[in-house]
Order: sequence, then structure tokens, then C-alpha cells
Amino acid sequence: MAKDIKRVSAQQRKDYMRVYGNRKKSSLHDTYAEKADKPFLEVKDLEVIYTSNKQIVKAVNGVSFQLKRGESLALVGETGAGKTTICRSILRILADPPAKMTGGDIWMDGVNLTDLSEEEMLEVRGAKIAMIFQDPMTALNPSMQVGKQIIEGLMLHNDYTPAQAEERAKEMFEMVGIAPNRMVEYPFEFSGGMKQRVVIAMALACNPVVLLADEPTTALDVTIQAQVMDLIRELRNKLNTAMVLVTHDLGVVAQNCDNVAIVYSGQIIEYGSKESIFLHPTHPYTIGLFGALPNMNDNSERLTPIAGTMPDPTRLPDGCAFAPRCPHATDACRTGVIPEKEIAPGHKIRCIMRDKEA
Ligand SMILES: Nc1ncnc2c1ncn2[C@@H]1O[C@H](COP(=O)(O)OP(=O)(O)OP(=O)(O)O)[C@@H](O)[C@H]1O
Ligand SMILES: [Mg+2]
Repeated sequence: MAKDIKRVSAQQRKDYMRVYGNRKKSSLHDTYAEKADKPFLEVKDLEVIYTSNKQIVKAVNGVSFQLKRGESLALVGETGAGKTTICRSILRILADPPAKMTGGDIWMDGVNLTDLSEEEMLEVRGAKIAMIFQDPMTALNPSMQVGKQIIEGLMLHNDYTPAQAEERAKEMFEMVGIAPNRMVEYPFEFSGGMKQRVVIAMALACNPVVLLADEPTTALDVTIQAQVMDLIRELRNKLNTAMVLVTHDLGVVAQNCDNVAIVYSGQIIEYGSKESIFLHPTHPYTIGLFGALPNMNDNSERLTPIAGTMPDPTRLPDGCAFAPRCPHATDACRTGVIPEKEIAPGHKIRCIMRDKEA
């Protein structure tokens, strides 16, 4: 389903940063102070293709990023940019075929996940890395009591006795605000928001060190969205969990993430702290995505949607994939590979037209 990035004006972005930017990091950052400078999860040069109707869809084209313990990264980009494919690659749950990881490595705490056997991956999934899917029903078995589903996961990944697993499941239900006596119910007996809470309880039950949250609130109505994000934040603080968050809502990014990666045609075209991305969006795509372009004439700012669509991933153009839509593109943008460059400490872009932060 095509979704629009929730656009905000430059003023709103500044306001977000006044409220959520540069504030004191939560205690979880202190807890991991000794490991703080080491990346815990590292995605390196990830490439994924899908084969569909004998055509090659180039979904992820050289994505790299790092995440420290307790840190959170937002993946922001238009529909079809490759965000879900990146998350699924980390957990190695892409269906092969049609998907194939054609390049790259995924390191977690010194282990290259791409080298692990399927059996070894079973120990990583759920226990170390958990994922919240956009649609809660993807993660729930409709014909099994919800409590049993959590208990089963807990028994698989821990040396719990059935009684201990049940106790832990009850604890998780309480943590997400659902009365434990509802553990005997089936998914259809829960509202959409409650199902998502169950999925969050399931995802966090084994104290994962990394949470992949793929639009965790898109299926929910607005009032519940905020509650669910509060809950994820609270649980992450308690459990010291790092997070990759896919969202179309820049308000959610401001409130929940340390760093932001802007994804376009399977590449990160801009990366930085949320402060640098919100206050100095520099790649022409990011500027367009955030909805505000400076108006040269009267120095005001106006909302400008980006014209056009992302290129066909079966026929990516040479050079910068954004060039066909970019108001600043030159012939040089349409050839070769656009390298990543650092325009300020930790702030990187793939654009040959810009050399410093906007
Ligand atoms: N099973 C599949 N078979 C073929 N192509 C696929 C498959 N799944 C995804 N793709 C393609 O891979 C590209 C990336 O898709 P992906 O789902 O990762 O995007 P996304 O950024 O998560 O989009 P959205 O915001 O809509 O969730 C798209 O071009 C998509 O059409
Ligand atoms: Mg997706």
C-alpha cells in the first residue's frame, strides 16, 4: 500500500528538536557506557534482489549502518525503497526464492549472521533479535491461544520450565497492559491495538538485544499509535534494547530515534543524527521528503511535494537514482556510482552536488 511520508515544515522540525533533540540520553545509555563505542549490530554493503516474472528487482543496493547497544535508528523512505527487505535480511527471513541476498554481511556482537546455519539462526531469532511486523496477524497464529504463543517462544529460547515460562508470559502481559487472564483467548478476541500489544509482548519477552520494528503502529488508530510507541520506549528502556524503526511519521522519529537513515531505491542516501537530519537535511531528496524547500525569492519556506516516482527497481538508472526527479541534477549525476561522503561529523550523503550541510 502506498503511504506518504508525513511531511512537516522546517519550523515543525525545529520544534521537534527543541522538545526531543539533544536531551539527556536515558539511563540505558549509561548502562552500556562500557560498550557504547562498539557497534553491536553492523549491516555492511547489503545487497538483495528479488526475481519476479524472470526480472531482477534490485531491492537493496549496498546498504551499511551500525547500531550500538540501546541505540535506535529510523529507516525513512517512500514505499518500495527497501526498508522491510533490509529488516527481513537482518533476521534472514526473506523467502529464497524469490529473494536472494547477493552481497554483504550482517555482524551482531562479533558474529557474522550470514555464516550461521538455519539451526543457529533459530537461536538468534526471537531471543536476540525480534521483529514487530506491520500487520500483527502476520506474527500471530489465529488458531492458538495468545498466551500459549508467548509461552512456546519462551520455552524455545530459554531453559524455562512450563511454570516459569507461564510466569514470564504473565509478566509480559502485565507490562503491555493486558490482564493476564486474557492469555487463554484467541487473536480474534482482541482489538487491533491489543493484538499489536500482544505482538510487542511476544517480541520483547525474551529480552532481545535488537528490535526491528517495521511500522509497528501503522495498522493502529491514532490514539493507540501513541500508546504503543510509549510502550515500546518504556520497554526498551527497561530491557536495554537497540531498535531499527521503520516509520513514515517524522514525529515518531523525533521522539524515538537517535539516528536517521533516509532510504531511496535500496540505498541510504543520507544518514546522520536526528538533529543533523532534522535541522540540516541536505540531500535534495531528504529536503523534498521533509516537505520544505527554501524559497529563494522571499526567504520563506513552502511545502513542496517531490514530483515523480522512484525508478523501476528492475531498471535502475546509471548514477544517482534520484537524478530523474532532482531539480539540481547535472549530467555528472547520471553516470557512475555516487559515493558516500561525510559533510559534517557523522552526517553522510550520496550526492555530488552538495559538499556541506544545508
Ligand atoms: N516478494 C517479492 N517479490 C518481488 N519483489 C518484491 C517482493 N517483496 C518486495 N519486493 C520489491 O522490493 C522492493 C523493496 O520492497 P520493500 O517491501 O522492502 O519496500 P519498503 O520500503 O518496505 O516499502 P513500504 O514502505 O511500502 O513497506 C520493492 O520494489 C518491492 O516491489
Ligand atoms: Mg515495508
